[in-house]
Formats: sequence, C-alpha cells, structure tokens
Amino acid sequence: MYTIEIRNLCKTIKNAVILEDINLKLESGNVYGFVGKNGSGKTMLFRSLAGLVHPTSGEVVINGKILHKDIAFVENLGLIIENVGLYPEFTGFKNLKLLAKINNKINDEQIKATIARVGLDPEDKRTVKKYSLGMRQRIVLAQALMESPDVLLLDEPTNGLDEAGTELIRSILREEVKRGALIAIASHDKEDIAFLCDTKYKMTAGRLEEMA
Ligand SMILES: Nc1ncnc2c1ncn2[C@@H]1O[C@H](COP(=O)(O)OP(=O)(O)O)[C@@H](O)[C@H]1O
Ligand SMILES: [Mg+2]
Repeated sequence: MYTIEIRNLCKTIKNAVILEDINLKLESGNVYGFVGKNGSGKTMLFRSLAGLVHPTSGEVVINGKILHKDIAFVENLGLIIENVGLYPEFTGFKNLKLLAKINNKINDEQIKATIARVGLDPEDKRTVKKYSLGMRQRIVLAQALMESPDVLLLDEPTNGLDEAGTELIRSILREEVKRGALIAIASHDKEDIAFLCDTKYKMTAGRLEEMA
C-alpha cells in the first residue's frame, strides 16, 4: 500500500497565493481526478506532489516520510508534467533508454513493449523533434509507464491527443489501476476525469474541494 498525504500545503510566489491550505490523502488502487480552469493551480499541486517544488508551508508525506525532510524524492513515480524534457535529436526509443538507465530496472524489450502499448512504433527511426504533439504525448506517457511505477502523476495526459489516443490512454490507465497503481490525473477536460476517476476534486484559485 502506497499513500501520499498532503497536510496544510500552501505555496506562495512573490505574495501571490498559488496553493492555499490543501489537505488530501491518496492511496494505491485508486484514480484521483483534479479539474479546474487554467491557472487554478493543478500543475503546481502536481509539482508539489512530485517533490519538484518546495511548499511555502505544510508538507507532503509519502508512506509516512516527509518529502524534502525524511526523503529527497518520490520513489517509483511515473510523471507527466508540462515541459518535460525529451531530447529532440534522439528517437523515442533512445530517449526512453537514456531515462531507463537511471534505475536500470528494465531491458530494451520492455521499453519497446511500452512504446508499442501507447500506439507508437518502437522501431521508428524519426527523432522526436519530428513527432506531432500527440506522438510526443504518447512517448511521454510511455516513459511514465515503462517501469510499472507505484504512482502515476499525469498532468493533462490527453492534451494534443485525438479521440482514439484519448480512448487508448483511458484503457491503459484502467489496466494500471487494476495492477494496483495510485493514479492522479489533472485535466481541464471534465470528461477525462468523469470517465476515469473514483474521487474527483475541483481546484479554484488554489483551493481544493471534493466533488460529489
Ligand atoms: N514559477 C511561477 N512563478 C509565478 N507564478 C507562477 C509560477 N508557476 C505558476 N504560477 C502561477 O500559479 C497559478 C497556478 O498555475 P498552474 O498550477 O500552472 O495552473 P493550472 O495547471 O491549473 O493551469 C497561475 O496563476 C500561474 O500564473
Ligand atoms: Mg496545468
């Protein structure tokens, strides 16, 4: 069982309140959805959950350990967040292989299987700078999925995808939650959240409320 708890999380940047007193508990085997307008704080919340920014006050607690204090990063995390780095001059496979070397958990065949799973050709020789937005979104999803992480934090995962791509992601995520993953999805698209999520939250100007 993997748990993520957020306690009284606040984030201010130059006197602007970006996140205001967020309290939340997430557990494995569930899909959590976060909807809200552009600028409501979804990405900042996810950056905080992933340990990419320090809270102004409050804390993120991963399996009982306080992030930035007891632990330096979130283990077994698959992440999609805006502006993730892909090396534009490398193929999709090479990009994933470079990242897979960090943990050294999976082999080339597993990387290729994940690329195929998101509907791309693992043998595609094009560099990712030639990819469409939808293809880029798929390769980034493959990167998040490839090591079968305990936690998937997906910020706007269907951005730039056509209907078939969106449906594919939805079916992949249903498989991932069956495997026991903890999944959190942020989207400005209410439909994404309605289809996939057991528990739904709405963000409004940095505040979070649970939706019925
Ligand atoms: N590095 C930053 N410096 C100042 N303001 C920021 C920064 N990052 C985000 N913000 C502000 O925080 C608010 C929430 O942004 P964001 O989390 O990206 O919203 P969302 O993902 O819901 O569209 C916005 O008002 C945005 O302008
Ligand atoms: Mg965002």
